[in-house]
Amino acid sequence: MIREFLVWLATQVGKGPGEYDPSWSEGLASTLNVWGLLEGSHVLSLMLFAGTIFLVDLRLLGVGFKTTPISVISDRVLPLTIFGFALMVVTGLLLFYAKPLLYYHNLWFRLKLIFLAIAVINIFIFHYRVQKDRHLWDTAVKPPAKARASALVSIVSWIVVITFGRFIAYDWYECGKPLPHWANVAQECAISETGAIDLDEVVK
Ligand code: HEM
Repeated sequence: MIREFLVWLATQVGKGPGEYDPSWSEGLASTLNVWGLLEGSHVLSLMLFAGTIFLVDLRLLGVGFKTTPISVISDRVLPLTIFGFALMVVTGLLLFYAKPLLYYHNLWFRLKLIFLAIAVINIFIFHYRVQKDRHLWDTAVKPPAKARASALVSIVSWIVVITFGRFIAYDWYECGKPLPHWANVAQECAISETGAIDLDEVVK
């Protein structure tokens, strides 16, 4: 079902009356500069987003800005983090929209979304649970274990999201190549345009 929706999104939405008229997705994918600008903006907004969130995490871990109250760093930096995150999501969705089927069958994109979900759930747990009694440890050089644990999950999950984001561009596990069976299954290569070739079948 998801794949049918993505096929429609990629080939029908915004398509002109002519048989060979491109859809909006195909049009975006065929633009050299616009796509490049999107990719560049995705990476640039990363600096704002990840750079600011790591600042707060270092304070929560008790390794940086130890004499600055957590509320001071968080309240000043958070608007930049939220703006950076919004930019990442908008540019990311547009990148995805340009080649939805390519990314849908991409192992690193799928893993990136899983860790993105973990990172976002961690943010909600921190904001609605962990920091409820922040007034008790706002100036503590070493915040309580729950705050440090949340900061550690944040740093690790965002580093994994960024790493898998970078791996998306590499075709190590591209469908249609001879791949380990698990990689064909994890990417649903069998229903992709290029199909699935199991390495075991090739190297018998
Ligand atoms: C805050 C969350 C996000 C972070 C930290 C992030 C990070 C990254 C990074 C570091 C790259 C590699 C860029 C490069 O070096 O070329 C990347 C690529 C990409 N991201 Fe994200 N991203 C985020 C959210 C999203 C979202 C929500 C989507 C769409 C659903 C998305 C879609 C993509 C796509 C399609 C690429 C691959 C572009 C290519 O073909 O190289 N990203 N991301």
